[in-house]
Amino acid sequence: MFERQVYISGTMVPESQARISIFDSAVMLGDTATESTRTFGHHPFKLEEHIDRLYKSLKVMRIDPGMDATEMLRTTQNVLQANLQCYAPDQDCWIVHNISRGLSVPGSDPTLTSSGATVMIFTQYMCLRSWAQFYTDGCHAVTSMSRAVPTQSLDARIKNRSRLAYTLAESEVKLVDPLAQGVILDIHGNVSENKGGNIFVVSGGVLKTPTTANCLAGMSRSTALKLADGMGIPAVETILQPYDLATADELFFTSTPYCIMPATRFNGLPIGDGTVGPVTIRLLNAWSEMVGLDIVKQAQDQL
Ligand SMILES: Cc1ncc(COP(=O)(O)O)c(C=O)c1O
Repeated sequence: MFERQVYISGTMVPESQARISIFDSAVMLGDTATESTRTFGHHPFKLEEHIDRLYKSLKVMRIDPGMDATEMLRTTQNVLQANLQCYAPDQDCWIVHNISRGLSVPGSDPTLTSSGATVMIFTQYMCLRSWAQFYTDGCHAVTSMSRAVPTQSLDARIKNRSRLAYTLAESEVKLVDPLAQGVILDIHGNVSENKGGNIFVVSGGVLKTPTTANCLAGMSRSTALKLADGMGIPAVETILQPYDLATADELFFTSTPYCIMPATRFNGLPIGDGTVGPVTIRLLNAWSEMVGLDIVKQAQDQL
Protein backbone atom coordinates (compact mmCIF):
# COMPACT_ATOMS: atom_id res chain seq x y z
CA MET A 1 0.00 0.00 0.00
CA PHE A 2 1.24 3.47 -0.87
CA GLU A 3 2.31 5.36 2.22
CA ARG A 4 1.73 9.07 2.69
CA GLN A 5 4.77 11.21 1.98
CA VAL A 6 5.97 13.95 4.30
CA TYR A 7 8.21 16.87 3.42
CA ILE A 8 10.89 17.62 5.99
CA SER A 9 13.40 20.38 5.23
CA GLY A 10 14.12 19.53 1.62
CA THR A 11 13.34 15.81 1.47
CA MET A 12 10.23 13.71 1.01
CA VAL A 13 10.03 10.68 3.27
CA PRO A 14 7.33 8.10 3.97
CA GLU A 15 5.27 9.20 6.97
CA SER A 16 6.43 6.27 9.13
CA GLN A 17 10.03 7.40 8.65
CA ALA A 18 9.42 11.11 9.25
CA ARG A 19 11.51 12.18 12.26
CA ILE A 20 12.60 15.36 13.96
CA SER A 21 15.12 15.72 16.77
CA ILE A 22 14.11 15.81 20.44
CA PHE A 23 16.19 19.02 20.53
CA ASP A 24 14.14 20.72 17.83
CA SER A 25 12.71 24.04 19.04
CA ALA A 26 9.28 22.68 18.11
CA VAL A 27 9.66 20.21 20.98
CA MET A 28 11.84 22.24 23.34
CA LEU A 29 9.97 25.54 23.08
CA GLY A 30 6.78 25.05 21.08
CA ASP A 31 8.50 27.61 18.87
CA THR A 32 6.66 26.78 15.66
CA ALA A 33 4.60 28.65 13.11
CA THR A 34 1.76 26.63 11.68
CA GLU A 35 -0.98 26.55 9.08
CA SER A 36 -3.78 24.10 8.39
CA THR A 37 -5.41 24.24 4.98
CA ARG A 38 -8.06 21.85 3.67
CA THR A 39 -9.04 20.53 0.28
CA PHE A 40 -12.53 20.46 -1.21
CA GLY A 41 -12.81 17.77 -3.86
CA HIS A 42 -9.01 17.39 -3.64
CA HIS A 43 -8.44 21.08 -4.49
CA PRO A 44 -6.75 23.18 -1.82
CA PHE A 45 -8.93 26.00 -0.51
CA LYS A 46 -7.29 29.42 -0.12
CA LEU A 47 -3.80 27.92 -0.09
CA GLU A 48 -2.17 31.18 -1.21
CA GLU A 49 -3.91 33.04 1.62
CA HIS A 50 -2.81 30.41 4.18
CA ILE A 51 0.78 30.72 2.96
CA ASP A 52 0.53 34.49 3.13
CA ARG A 53 -0.63 34.24 6.76
CA LEU A 54 2.18 31.73 7.43
CA TYR A 55 4.79 34.18 6.17
CA LYS A 56 3.33 36.93 8.34
CA SER A 57 3.59 34.64 11.39
CA LEU A 58 7.16 33.68 10.44
CA LYS A 59 8.14 37.32 10.02
CA VAL A 60 6.88 38.33 13.46
CA MET A 61 8.44 35.18 14.97
CA ARG A 62 11.76 35.96 13.21
CA ILE A 63 11.95 32.46 11.70
CA ASP A 64 13.53 32.15 8.26
CA PRO A 65 12.01 29.12 6.50
CA GLY A 66 14.81 29.14 3.92
CA MET A 67 12.49 29.63 0.97
CA ASP A 68 10.19 32.35 -0.25
CA ALA A 69 6.40 32.13 -0.36
CA THR A 70 6.37 31.16 -4.04
CA GLU A 71 8.62 28.19 -3.39
CA MET A 72 6.61 27.26 -0.32
CA LEU A 73 3.47 27.26 -2.46
CA ARG A 74 5.10 25.07 -5.11
CA THR A 75 6.52 22.69 -2.48
CA THR A 76 3.13 22.43 -0.81
CA GLN A 77 1.42 21.67 -4.12
CA ASN A 78 4.01 18.94 -4.73
CA VAL A 79 3.31 17.42 -1.30
CA LEU A 80 -0.41 17.43 -2.03
CA GLN A 81 0.07 15.88 -5.47
CA ALA A 82 2.30 13.16 -4.01
CA ASN A 83 -0.41 12.23 -1.53
CA LEU A 84 -3.72 12.61 -3.36
CA GLN A 85 -3.76 8.93 -4.31
CA CYS A 86 -4.18 8.16 -0.57
CA TYR A 87 -7.60 9.83 -0.51
CA ALA A 88 -10.75 8.44 -2.11
CA PRO A 89 -12.61 10.79 -4.49
CA ASP A 90 -15.20 11.62 -1.81
CA GLN A 91 -12.54 12.20 0.84
CA ASP A 92 -10.58 15.36 1.50
CA CYS A 93 -7.43 16.10 3.44
CA TRP A 94 -5.63 18.57 5.63
CA ILE A 95 -2.45 20.18 4.38
CA VAL A 96 -0.42 21.08 7.45
CA HIS A 97 2.63 23.32 7.71
CA ASN A 98 4.73 23.29 10.87
CA ILE A 99 7.85 25.41 10.73
CA SER A 100 10.10 25.57 13.75
CA ARG A 101 13.23 27.64 14.31
CA GLY A 102 15.37 24.47 14.15
CA LEU A 103 17.72 22.62 16.50
CA SER A 104 17.86 24.57 19.73
CA VAL A 105 21.14 25.19 21.52
CA PRO A 106 21.13 25.05 25.33
CA GLY A 107 21.99 28.39 26.89
CA SER A 108 20.72 31.85 27.45
CA ASP A 109 19.46 32.65 23.95
CA PRO A 110 16.40 30.64 22.88
CA THR A 111 16.70 31.92 19.32
CA LEU A 112 20.14 30.32 18.82
CA THR A 113 19.95 27.22 16.64
CA SER A 114 22.50 24.85 15.20
CA SER A 115 20.48 24.30 12.03
CA GLY A 116 18.15 26.12 9.69
CA ALA A 117 14.41 26.04 10.28
CA THR A 118 12.70 22.66 10.37
CA VAL A 119 10.07 22.82 7.63
CA MET A 120 7.41 20.12 7.89
CA ILE A 121 4.57 19.74 5.38
CA PHE A 122 2.19 16.80 5.47
CA THR A 123 -1.36 15.80 4.62
CA GLN A 124 -3.88 13.95 6.78
CA TYR A 125 -7.32 12.51 6.19
CA MET A 126 -10.01 15.13 6.86
CA CYS A 127 -12.01 13.33 9.56
CA LEU A 128 -15.19 15.32 10.22
CA ARG A 129 -17.01 12.81 12.43
CA SER A 130 -16.74 14.76 15.66
CA TRP A 131 -18.49 17.79 14.11
CA ALA A 132 -20.89 16.07 11.73
CA GLN A 133 -23.96 15.98 13.97
CA PHE A 134 -23.63 19.64 14.89
CA TYR A 135 -24.66 20.79 11.40
CA THR A 136 -28.20 19.65 12.11
CA ASP A 137 -28.38 19.54 15.93
CA GLY A 138 -26.11 22.46 16.77
CA CYS A 139 -23.42 22.17 19.41
CA HIS A 140 -23.30 23.36 23.00
CA ALA A 141 -20.98 26.37 23.27
CA VAL A 142 -19.48 26.74 26.73
CA THR A 143 -17.13 29.36 28.21
CA SER A 144 -13.90 28.02 29.65
CA MET A 145 -12.40 28.83 33.02
CA SER A 146 -9.06 29.79 31.44
CA ARG A 147 -8.82 33.09 29.58
CA ALA A 148 -7.09 33.73 26.28
CA VAL A 149 -3.40 34.63 26.38
CA PRO A 150 -3.50 38.44 26.10
CA THR A 151 -2.70 39.55 22.60
CA GLN A 152 -0.28 42.05 24.12
CA SER A 153 1.80 39.02 25.21
CA LEU A 154 1.36 36.84 22.14
CA ASP A 155 -0.43 38.45 19.22
CA ALA A 156 -3.49 36.33 18.48
CA ARG A 157 -2.83 36.76 14.76
CA ILE A 158 0.38 34.72 14.95
CA LYS A 159 -0.75 31.18 14.13
CA ASN A 160 1.56 29.10 16.25
CA ARG A 161 1.83 25.66 17.81
CA SER A 162 2.07 26.80 21.45
CA ARG A 163 -1.32 25.25 22.12
CA LEU A 164 -1.31 24.72 25.88
CA ALA A 165 -3.67 27.60 26.64
CA TYR A 166 -6.16 26.41 24.02
CA THR A 167 -5.89 22.79 25.12
CA LEU A 168 -6.51 23.65 28.78
CA ALA A 169 -9.50 25.82 27.86
CA GLU A 170 -11.04 23.12 25.70
CA SER A 171 -10.46 20.44 28.33
CA GLU A 172 -12.26 22.63 30.89
CA VAL A 173 -15.40 22.95 28.79
CA LYS A 174 -15.38 19.18 28.22
CA LEU A 175 -15.67 18.77 32.01
CA VAL A 176 -18.98 20.63 31.82
CA ASP A 177 -20.27 18.73 28.77
CA PRO A 178 -18.13 16.12 26.97
CA LEU A 179 -19.40 17.41 23.60
CA ALA A 180 -19.12 21.12 24.43
CA GLN A 181 -17.20 23.46 22.14
CA GLY A 182 -15.21 26.12 23.93
CA VAL A 183 -15.76 29.86 23.94
CA ILE A 184 -12.60 31.45 25.30
CA LEU A 185 -12.91 34.92 26.82
CA ASP A 186 -10.07 37.42 26.94
CA ILE A 187 -8.81 38.99 30.17
CA HIS A 188 -11.50 41.70 29.85
CA GLY A 189 -14.29 39.15 29.65
CA ASN A 190 -14.85 39.72 25.93
CA VAL A 191 -15.37 36.76 23.61
CA SER A 192 -12.15 35.94 21.75
CA GLU A 193 -12.28 32.58 19.97
CA ASN A 194 -12.38 28.82 20.18
CA LYS A 195 -9.23 26.69 20.39
CA GLY A 196 -9.42 26.21 16.63
CA GLY A 197 -12.19 28.47 15.39
CA ASN A 198 -13.74 31.93 15.33
CA ILE A 199 -17.09 32.87 16.80
CA PHE A 200 -20.10 34.59 15.21
CA VAL A 201 -23.57 35.58 16.34
CA VAL A 202 -26.58 36.77 14.40
CA SER A 203 -28.62 39.37 16.29
CA GLY A 204 -31.53 41.25 14.76
CA GLY A 205 -30.40 40.17 11.28
CA VAL A 206 -26.84 41.45 11.78
CA LEU A 207 -23.85 39.12 11.70
CA LYS A 208 -21.34 39.97 14.45
CA THR A 209 -17.87 38.66 15.22
CA PRO A 210 -15.00 39.87 17.42
CA THR A 211 -12.32 42.01 15.79
CA THR A 212 -8.87 40.45 15.32
CA ALA A 213 -7.70 42.47 18.32
CA ASN A 214 -8.21 39.29 20.36
CA CYS A 215 -8.49 36.38 17.91
CA LEU A 216 -6.87 34.79 14.91
CA ALA A 217 -7.73 36.32 11.54
CA GLY A 218 -9.31 33.03 10.50
CA MET A 219 -9.56 32.19 6.81
CA SER A 220 -13.02 30.77 7.44
CA ARG A 221 -13.94 33.90 9.36
CA SER A 222 -13.09 36.03 6.32
CA THR A 223 -14.90 33.58 4.03
CA ALA A 224 -18.07 33.82 6.15
CA LEU A 225 -17.87 37.63 6.11
CA LYS A 226 -17.37 37.64 2.34
CA LEU A 227 -20.28 35.28 1.74
CA ALA A 228 -22.48 37.40 3.99
CA ASP A 229 -21.49 40.51 2.07
CA GLY A 230 -22.39 38.80 -1.21
CA MET A 231 -25.80 37.86 0.16
CA GLY A 232 -26.54 41.33 1.52
CA ILE A 233 -26.36 40.22 5.16
CA PRO A 234 -25.04 43.15 7.22
CA ALA A 235 -21.95 42.26 9.26
CA VAL A 236 -19.87 44.02 11.91
CA GLU A 237 -16.61 43.23 13.69
CA THR A 238 -17.16 44.29 17.26
CA ILE A 239 -16.74 43.50 20.95
CA LEU A 240 -18.93 40.61 22.04
CA GLN A 241 -19.57 39.52 25.60
CA PRO A 242 -21.15 36.34 26.98
CA TYR A 243 -24.44 38.30 27.25
CA ASP A 244 -24.39 38.86 23.48
CA LEU A 245 -23.99 35.13 22.86
CA ALA A 246 -26.72 34.19 25.34
CA THR A 247 -29.19 36.64 23.77
CA ALA A 248 -28.26 36.07 20.11
CA ASP A 249 -30.71 34.66 17.56
CA GLU A 250 -27.99 32.45 16.10
CA LEU A 251 -24.50 31.40 17.10
CA PHE A 252 -21.84 29.56 15.12
CA PHE A 253 -18.14 28.83 14.90
CA THR A 254 -15.99 28.98 11.77
CA SER A 255 -12.89 26.92 11.08
CA THR A 256 -11.04 25.30 8.21
CA PRO A 257 -12.27 21.68 8.68
CA TYR A 258 -15.98 22.20 9.33
CA CYS A 259 -16.34 25.71 7.76
CA ILE A 260 -19.43 26.61 9.84
CA MET A 261 -20.45 24.79 13.01
CA PRO A 262 -23.82 25.90 14.36
CA ALA A 263 -24.37 26.18 18.12
CA THR A 264 -27.86 25.88 19.59
CA ARG A 265 -26.98 26.22 23.29
CA PHE A 266 -24.69 28.56 25.16
CA ASN A 267 -23.74 27.72 28.75
CA GLY A 268 -26.93 25.65 29.01
CA LEU A 269 -29.25 28.33 27.57
CA PRO A 270 -31.01 27.80 24.22
CA ILE A 271 -29.86 30.11 21.41
CA GLY A 272 -32.90 31.68 19.72
CA ASP A 273 -35.53 28.96 19.40
CA GLY A 274 -32.90 26.27 20.08
CA THR A 275 -32.56 25.16 16.46
CA VAL A 276 -29.98 25.91 13.79
CA GLY A 277 -30.86 29.38 12.48
CA PRO A 278 -31.74 30.49 8.94
CA VAL A 279 -28.73 32.79 8.40
CA THR A 280 -26.37 30.01 9.50
CA ILE A 281 -28.02 27.62 7.03
CA ARG A 282 -27.88 30.17 4.20
CA LEU A 283 -24.17 30.75 4.80
CA LEU A 284 -23.45 27.03 4.92
CA ASN A 285 -25.38 26.45 1.70
CA ALA A 286 -23.56 29.32 0.00
CA TRP A 287 -20.23 27.87 1.12
CA SER A 288 -21.13 24.43 -0.29
CA GLU A 289 -22.16 26.07 -3.55
CA MET A 290 -18.90 28.04 -3.72
CA VAL A 291 -16.71 24.94 -3.30
CA GLY A 292 -18.95 22.62 -5.35
CA LEU A 293 -19.35 20.12 -2.55
CA ASP A 294 -22.11 19.48 0.00
CA ILE A 295 -20.20 20.25 3.19
CA VAL A 296 -22.86 18.83 5.51
CA LYS A 297 -23.29 15.63 3.50
CA GLN A 298 -19.56 15.01 3.31
CA ALA A 299 -19.29 15.19 7.10
CA GLN A 300 -22.47 13.24 7.84
CA ASP A 301 -21.53 10.48 5.38
CA GLN A 302 -18.64 9.77 7.72
CA LEU A 303 -21.02 8.90 10.59
C1 LIG B 1 -6.95 29.75 17.67
C2 LIG B 1 -7.64 29.63 16.36
N1 LIG B 1 -8.64 30.47 16.05
C3 LIG B 1 -9.30 30.40 14.88
C4 LIG B 1 -8.98 29.44 13.94
C5 LIG B 1 -9.74 29.36 12.64
O1 LIG B 1 -8.91 29.73 11.58
P1 LIG B 1 -9.16 29.20 10.09
O2 LIG B 1 -10.53 29.62 9.71
O3 LIG B 1 -8.10 29.87 9.30
O4 LIG B 1 -9.03 27.71 10.15
C6 LIG B 1 -7.94 28.55 14.20
C7 LIG B 1 -7.58 27.52 13.22
O5 LIG B 1 -6.88 26.59 13.48
C8 LIG B 1 -7.24 28.64 15.43
O6 LIG B 1 -6.24 27.83 15.73
